[in-house]
Amino acid sequence: MQILGIESSCDETGVALVQTAERGWPQLLAHALHSQISMHQAYGGVVPELASRDHIRRVLPLTREVLTSAGRTLADVDVVAYTRGPGLAGALLVGSGVACALAAALNKPVLGIHHLEGHLLSPFLSEDPPEFPFVALLVSGGHTQLMRVDGVGQYTLLGETIDDAAGEAFDKSAKLLGLPYPGGPGLSRLAEQGNASAYKLPRPLLHSGDFDFSFAGLKTAVLTQSQKIGPQVLQEGSVERADLAASTQAAIVEVLLKKSMSALEHTGLKRLVVAGGVGANRRLREQLNEACAKRAVRVHYPELHLCTDNGAMIAMAAAMRMQTGLATPEYEYAFDVKPRWPLHQLA
Ligand code: KG4
Ligand code: ZN
Repeated sequence: MQILGIESSCDETGVALVQTAERGWPQLLAHALHSQISMHQAYGGVVPELASRDHIRRVLPLTREVLTSAGRTLADVDVVAYTRGPGLAGALLVGSGVACALAAALNKPVLGIHHLEGHLLSPFLSEDPPEFPFVALLVSGGHTQLMRVDGVGQYTLLGETIDDAAGEAFDKSAKLLGLPYPGGPGLSRLAEQGNASAYKLPRPLLHSGDFDFSFAGLKTAVLTQSQKIGPQVLQEGSVERADLAASTQAAIVEVLLKKSMSALEHTGLKRLVVAGGVGANRRLREQLNEACAKRAVRVHYPELHLCTDNGAMIAMAAAMRMQTGLATPEYEYAFDVKPRWPLHQLA
């Protein structure tokens, strides 16, 4: 079986083709991606209407590219999978509409996929896939959650952010430091040159005794600190700017690290899976690797280029749901998208 996956929930158009295997997990045949980041940068964030229009322009050329590089044609596609939610409504409608129209034309079934399940299962695309059960730290631009994962579709929420997501904390702090959108990668690059203990920033809910997060206060603290330092000092190339970036990153990373370690202790599990865009953060990976090594915990990440949004994770989640008998693609081409859709509500 060959499954075409289409991702269009935010500012990346991703298309991929995976193939189910007789034994073992499905394999990725090809994937292609177009990032809209440069288009949105002028506005300091994602402009939903521009995002939808760009998905329309990109999705078919990317589909052709994927099929060509996999050496396949549309006739070889058995199932068309697409991101049904959560995400921007207009952007989701493009991927869903194209997926359903394509499937209807080919007389093939469709399957709508949860974007976060895609992230969660993306480490199964790596050479060394995890084994169930594990604790998952899902850290993206819109979500920050700790889950207990016992199998495909068996997700128990342990805790989540009560306000901003970790990616949002990176992005908003980066904006305050004058870095372009999305700020995560830029802030972490700048942080490499700074001193992480230069400024004392809050570690919200660090000792709350549960697995919830809160990052809204951190952004305010970064704002207050940057006002104290002053815009004249906080210029590009200044030590203060790099120090504030490093201190911000350290605050976010410490909370993610400590909460992940408590979730491992609480569940008694010896495996951690880290997924979502913030999972690409080098400092976070270093600290998690070190802490997990001490506890004899195996830690798995998606391959670096599959950390942020992509079509491969959507095709893979569809293939894994089908392989485990959890989902059956349907010849039903009427679609509805789910811009807000908690992962633990997924049946
Ligand atoms: O998973 P993702 O691509 O999209 C969502 O589903 O939200 O995550 C995007 C988020 C952005 O907030 C971005 O700043 C952050 O991931 N991000 C990073 C890094 N790379 C991406 N944050 C910190 N360090 C990075 N290296
Ligand atoms: Zn995502």
